[in-house]
Amino acid sequence: PAVMSNFILGIDLGTTSVKAVLLAAGCRTVAAGHSEPTAADLSDDSGIKAKEQDPGAIINAVNRCLAQLPGDKLQHVSRVGLTGQMHGVLFWKANSGCDWSNVNYFTPRDTSQLVTWQDRRCSSDFLSSLPKPESHFGVSTGFGCATIFWYMKHRPQFLDDFSVAGTIQDYVVSMLCGLDSCVMTPQNAASWGFFNTASSQWNENILKAAGFPVRLLPRCVPPGALVGQTHSDWHGIPAGTPVGAALGDFQCSVYSCMSSPADAVLNISTSAQLTFAMPADFTPPNSPQLESSISYFPYFDSSYLAVAASLNGGNALATFVETLTAWTKELGVEPRDSCLYEKLIGSALNQESSDLMVSPTILGERHAPLCLGQVTNISASNLSLGHVFRALCRGVVSNVASMMPVEHLQRAGVRRLVGSGSALARNEVLRQEVERAFPLQVVYGQNADSAVGVAMALCDRL
Ligand SMILES: *[C@@H]1O[C@H](CO)[C@@H](O)[C@H](O)[C@H]1NC(C)=O
Ligand SMILES: *[C@@H]1O[C@H](CO)[C@@H](O)[C@H](O)[C@H]1NC(C)=O
Ligand SMILES: *[C@@H]1O[C@H](CO)[C@@H](O)[C@H](O)[C@H]1NC(C)=O
Repeated sequence: PAVMSNFILGIDLGTTSVKAVLLAAGCRTVAAGHSEPTAADLSDDSGIKAKEQDPGAIINAVNRCLAQLPGDKLQHVSRVGLTGQMHGVLFWKANSGCDWSNVNYFTPRDTSQLVTWQDRRCSSDFLSSLPKPESHFGVSTGFGCATIFWYMKHRPQFLDDFSVAGTIQDYVVSMLCGLDSCVMTPQNAASWGFFNTASSQWNENILKAAGFPVRLLPRCVPPGALVGQTHSDWHGIPAGTPVGAALGDFQCSVYSCMSSPADAVLNISTSAQLTFAMPADFTPPNSPQLESSISYFPYFDSSYLAVAASLNGGNALATFVETLTAWTKELGVEPRDSCLYEKLIGSALNQESSDLMVSPTILGERHAPLCLGQVTNISASNLSLGHVFRALCRGVVSNVASMMPVEHLQRAGVRRLVGSGSALARNEVLRQEVERAFPLQVVYGQNADSAVGVAMALCDRL
């Protein structure tokens, strides 16, 4: 029979919220969308600097989210795609892991908590005691394999209770399809560490030799692959609907706004990222490049994204505004924060340029953690708030540009820069500085959105 299968459902399980969108046929029109906060953070009373989330709260947010989408459209979903926070790990038992007794949706059962990417239980001493990965990615605290190593050394009996592990998005895929194992794409596998993206394989021999429970490593499939079909009706989506292997939220976010290989994406929100797709024949080095400001993320069709990820974006501007607020309070004046930000933008718009130089790396950068912020070339006539805010905005942009020089983009054939993120959206001075720093066509308004990206990625591969 002719089935009206017209929508792709994309779901993003983010660190603080869940978002679901329905993408219409044609792959570029969002027909409906809804987002819900997860409030899933658990307080850490263990004293190990744990950062864990309650999978029950996350799945509740998914259920609330889907309940808000139009039922007539959910009946016509032809594919389901999931993405979400990378690096984290959740454990469950084969043939268990959830409860479908509510008929229309599931809730988690017999799972561990989700240990997220923000977890800090692995000290640098602990990390350096681990074997060297055969991968261009190093291993940090909060990465799935590091967390499993930690359990192996500190709570070995904890791991005995579980037979399957995955990210939260992989877990949802397994539960929807009733799988008794976990299937993962290289996008999420690379985020765990000890995964070689060139061969698409775990560093199994290295891990085995270190006594790592390799039985917990998911099987890998390419991004875009379907791993199964929904085994029950789910919020009105018919049983038997194909489900794609879960993707990484960063890759999906890029996918939602990069429309050609000639595009780079500059995203400035709390932090800042500049990204473009490497030529198809590129392969990354075989070992971690700790000093490099550019990292390579596995993308689609065996290609890679080159990424300069700066820790200092909108948060550097926010710190300046907070500092100013604190100073005025100390002086006995009560400013209003929001109007302060607008006023600073106004003053800096009137101050078209400045010789003042601000290097805003107050958090350091991953490749240079001790290279903190500086203000230089100070002259008495370049000290108005307009000068300072102008120089600060220029500093944020030129810091990202120094991590990934313009010539690098041009050599790779990039001709257009897609600007995205809340800090760029609200700050015209920042946009002006972007246009000055990058001699490329700059476009705005295509806001990066992982839920849209995962739906687009599946839709484009129909
Ligand atoms: C943009 O920034 C947000 C928030 O930090 C992040 O979740 C998203 O992955 C970023 N997207 C891109 C394309 O850099
Ligand atoms: C910055 O200060 C220098 C030196 O005092 C002055 O010549 C210059 O005009 C100032 N720049 C601006 C844009 O005001
Ligand atoms: C420092 O400021 C002076 C005058 O304001 C300007 O001529 C000079 O180019 C500035 N130096 C740098 C490195 O920007």
